[in-house]
Amino acid sequence: MNNSRIAVLASGTGSNVRAILQAAAAGSCPVETALVLSDKADAGALTIAKEAGVAQVLHITPKDYADRAAFDMACAEVIEAAGCHWVVLAGYMRILSEAFVQRFPQRIINIHPALLPAFPGADGAGDALRYGVKITGCTVHLVDEVLDGGPILAQQAVLVNDDDTRETLLNRLHTAEHQLYPATLARLVEQGFRLEGRRVIWRE
Ligand code: GRF
Repeated sequence: MNNSRIAVLASGTGSNVRAILQAAAAGSCPVETALVLSDKADAGALTIAKEAGVAQVLHITPKDYADRAAFDMACAEVIEAAGCHWVVLAGYMRILSEAFVQRFPQRIINIHPALLPAFPGADGAGDALRYGVKITGCTVHLVDEVLDGGPILAQQAVLVNDDDTRETLLNRLHTAEHQLYPATLARLVEQGFRLEGRRVIWRE
């Protein structure tokens, strides 16, 4: 399997999909996005991927499957058939079944809009703002069975301003994400890592 081939799973706007595709086109991120898959028919990510000429752009409807495990297995089969080494989550709003996570050990990556382990869950940016932290940021991490709980690959700090709203903070978090995600994918492909307990140690 070619370790530069990625599948991106996205449910929403797709700004991270765009950032990855643009970085790859610019030569700063040596990945080939072979597949973009969404559980939402109207996901912006699908439009962005089609416009960028991604080979396979798919919407798979969860309601067509008996349960979460069956839906996830259908997705896993498409990902494997496309020869993708990495499963890159970019605003994918579904909890992954254990069987899916175990099928791609240490090969599923997620980005979260907070400095984990602080503020996991659906609204990391809003939760950080409401809590009153002065520094937040974004985290790229491996996905394991614990929601937002896998080993951390990279983080980038973002300062919280006194006049921030959730929206203004999210805008700056997105800017940070759009740098951090492609840069971390590049390291995964070019450098690789090993795990010491929970610690990700990048290879020389
Ligand atoms: C990002 O903020 C990411 O951290 C979170 O979902 C959001 C996706 O945004 N997991 P987009 O669809 O890539 O614009």
